[in-house]
Amino acid sequence: MKQKRIQVLNGPNLNMLGKREPHIYGSLTLDEINKGLEKEAKPLGLELSFFQSNHEGALVDKIHELFDSPPEGLIINPGALTHTSVALRDALLLLSCPMAEVHLSNIYKREAFRHKSLLADIVTGQISGFGAYGYHLALQALAKMIHESTVHDA
Ligand code: DQA
Repeated sequence: MKQKRIQVLNGPNLNMLGKREPHIYGSLTLDEINKGLEKEAKPLGLELSFFQSNHEGALVDKIHELFDSPPEGLIINPGALTHTSVALRDALLLLSCPMAEVHLSNIYKREAFRHKSLLADIVTGQISGFGAYGYHLALQALAKMIHESTVHDA
């Protein structure tokens, strides 16, 4: 059976995790978070691919690649683009797999400009405020959805 794949996308400034406002975003680096996710994905029989960019267009291009070679699920922390990017929203609308929007911080407890996500109404679900653990919650949720759809397909 073909290995199921989940794409993990991270937007601007998330490459600076560990150094960047650790009181808000925690002390783990993105690499450490990704390694933890890899560890968890293996026994779930899932393959993960990772992509981070500080550039909106690079993220849009990556999503276009995913349109041609679709993963079974997508985890995305769009960083500040969450609140601004119609382009990212429009690109994600190309995809039909389950999508989890993750934020390390609780965006609804912060400045008013962070309260609005331009993706919230097009993703499957959003996890906000559980730190790096949010990525793991997203992985578990997607794994369950992917597993259930596989059982139904069989
Ligand atoms: C973030 C929240 C955004 O408002 C912010 O711009 C980020 C990170 C989070 O993970 O909490 O870069 O997406």
